[in-house]
Amino acid sequence: MVSKVVFGRGSINQIDDIIRPKRLNERAPFVFIIDAFFQNQSTLTSKFSLLYDDYIIYVSADEEPKTSQVDALVESIILNTKDLPSGIIGIGGGTIMDIAKAVSIMLTNTGSSEDYQGWDLVKNPGVYSVGVPTISGTGAEVSRTAVLSGSKLKLGLNSDYTPFNQVILDPELTESVTKDQWFFTGMDCFIHCVESLNGHFINTFSESYGTMAYALCKDIFLGDLSDDDKQNKLMMASWHGGMSIAYSQVGVAHALSYGLSFVLGVKHGLGNCIVFNHLDEFYPNDVALFREMIVKNDINLPKHICEDVTDSQMETMIDTALSLEPLWENALGNEWKTQISRQKIERLFRKM
Ligand SMILES: [Fe+2]
Repeated sequence: MVSKVVFGRGSINQIDDIIRPKRLNERAPFVFIIDAFFQNQSTLTSKFSLLYDDYIIYVSADEEPKTSQVDALVESIILNTKDLPSGIIGIGGGTIMDIAKAVSIMLTNTGSSEDYQGWDLVKNPGVYSVGVPTISGTGAEVSRTAVLSGSKLKLGLNSDYTPFNQVILDPELTESVTKDQWFFTGMDCFIHCVESLNGHFINTFSESYGTMAYALCKDIFLGDLSDDDKQNKLMMASWHGGMSIAYSQVGVAHALSYGLSFVLGVKHGLGNCIVFNHLDEFYPNDVALFREMIVKNDINLPKHICEDVTDSQMETMIDTALSLEPLWENALGNEWKTQISRQKIERLFRKM
């Protein structure tokens, strides 16, 4: 679990006070990994001070995060800093959250981040890490994974050492998010809840967090809240949805969505929405609710994205989806292989 968290509009202003006691020495800087969207926006960087050798790395979140990208960042940090950094501070969306968590771990674990894709493979705690989400929904700020695309597959670095040591939840930071991004990323949260609440791994912790986040999502996407309320509630929903899957697992939508983003580079939230729209068979009531949310918020969902997918790309998409066994097991139970075939997955992808 994340050890410490602050929540509230304007809470980003506490960041200097929060990280100051964690500085190891003057040679060990804080490295800020920030979404390139905020480059040249002094409103964000004016919230914190760079002292001694502290510096910022701007990272584009246009593409899903990669193991090669994490390895390159770790190498550049090692080359650029006299001592191991005092801390890694990630400021951005899910992509930046996952990159910051992975970089923190890889500074203290040898080899490539690809070696740690899977469950509980990380051997050493990472350097001190802080997550500051600027978009809500992915739950990456709270999860025990850092999802990366490697040369062979898209899979998270799932471990007890992955969660941030500190998270700053400031809903004001999500003000500049566009409506489409807000919706697609928010739906990631809604889908986390659906998949955990309907999964075989459900338990009391998972259920209580999931039920809370699910109700918040209905309020946000079907109710008539003020913008401030929507931002506040979605940031809380994202956290609770993330906690819900931390105690259980995601399901069919995520398994297929990973296939889409690994091969076609579709962003996670959008990929989930495209997939979820075709999952009536697995989550009928919630797919109907999702379609209501699409209409209410006037969202256009891309269609026919798999039209030009080659046979070999399709094979890779199916391999990626099927490699995520815990997700299928959660969704359909131990006997999931009797219900899911390569042909069935291909039929679903071809409809998208
Ligand atoms: Fe997700």
